[in-house]
Amino acid sequence: MSLRGTPDWVSYLVRAGLHAPSADNSQPWQFVWDGRTLELFMHDERGKRGLGADHPANLMALGAVIENLSQAARALGMPAETLQMGDASGSGCMARAVWEHPQSPPGALPAGVQQRHTNRGPFETTALDRRLLAELAVMRQGPLRVAVVSEAQARERWSGLVREASELRFQNEEIHRWLGDSLRFTPEEVARGDGLDVASLLLPPGGESLLRLSLDWRRMVLLNRFGGCKLFALLEAAMLKKCAALVTVIGPASGTGVEVAAGRLLQRVWIALNEMGIAVHPYFVLPDQLHRLRTGRVAPEFVHKVRRIEAAVGELLGSRDETVFMLLRVGVPRVAAPVRSRRLPLERSFSVLVSP
Ligand SMILES: Cc1cc2nc3c(=O)[nH]c(=O)nc-3n(C[C@H](O)[C@H](O)[C@H](O)COP(=O)(O)O)c2cc1C
Repeated sequence: MSLRGTPDWVSYLVRAGLHAPSADNSQPWQFVWDGRTLELFMHDERGKRGLGADHPANLMALGAVIENLSQAARALGMPAETLQMGDASGSGCMARAVWEHPQSPPGALPAGVQQRHTNRGPFETTALDRRLLAELAVMRQGPLRVAVVSEAQARERWSGLVREASELRFQNEEIHRWLGDSLRFTPEEVARGDGLDVASLLLPPGGESLLRLSLDWRRMVLLNRFGGCKLFALLEAAMLKKCAALVTVIGPASGTGVEVAAGRLLQRVWIALNEMGIAVHPYFVLPDQLHRLRTGRVAPEFVHKVRRIEAAVGELLGSRDETVFMLLRVGVPRVAAPVRSRRLPLERSFSVLVSP
């Protein structure tokens, strides 16, 4: 990967950043190098005009990029003050790095950053190692924390709430179209480097045809009349019961920078799990519905349902002031090396400003 004559440390940081996860692999980030400073922004089209600059999914993806930048900077031996955090609202520069006196040329990217990935296949139900549980339990990022749900009854309750949220998702035209636009079926579509390669969904036999069939919104509406949304939601949530544990990223429902902090913590947790051979499958459908409720974007006929979900989440967390930013299904994978999603060509995420 050539970064058009940029210093090695810039190329190293950008390559680390691009390994970050994002909702439906939308890659809502943009790096800019002006000859002295490397800056990170929310991408105008893929971020701001996509889900929106203030959407938690985008802010968490940028938080994950920042975590990768920070791990890469540490691996390079960059002094702490060379990487600075910026605006956490998604509208301005979100992080910047200036390194006047780089030392040794960089080697390989940190293994954890490079190897972290999504695994949507089946997992073993073997309990997680105690040391890993202890490591996760103390992970923090500002006011954000991690909780591991291992106990069967609690997992059952979370998966019930995911099912309810998912049922609403399949009745929402905007979310349905967004998913449809993200799916990549043919090799040509996959080669574009964004979105979700359907092979990475690890669907059961017949799953891909059913998915294709449901993508037309009018057809989905028809399917819903016969309980389509209930069936799809049931299938999605059923996976949550078959795993070692659920890992949740939890924090204040509002506050400056909470989403970016959640993204950083998510990324650290994900890397730690993958490094121990534990697979991770994120479920964002529940946090998404809660966010929609907070921002008045739930259709009036469904508001009471999402309020019920919100109250149940409050009960599970033991606090009405906190919310769940992400749910992860985790466990020893049965498919150890699933198809991984690609990334856009570098020039779509990195630009060099040439001074006049
Ligand atoms: C905020 C956020 C939300 C996500 N939500 C889901 C989800 O609901 N279901 C899912 O299967 N993957 C989800 N993912 C995983 C992304 O699809 C995945 O990170 C992306 O396709 C890139 O693949 P990789 O993680 O293997 O690099 C989410 C990731 C992020 C950062």
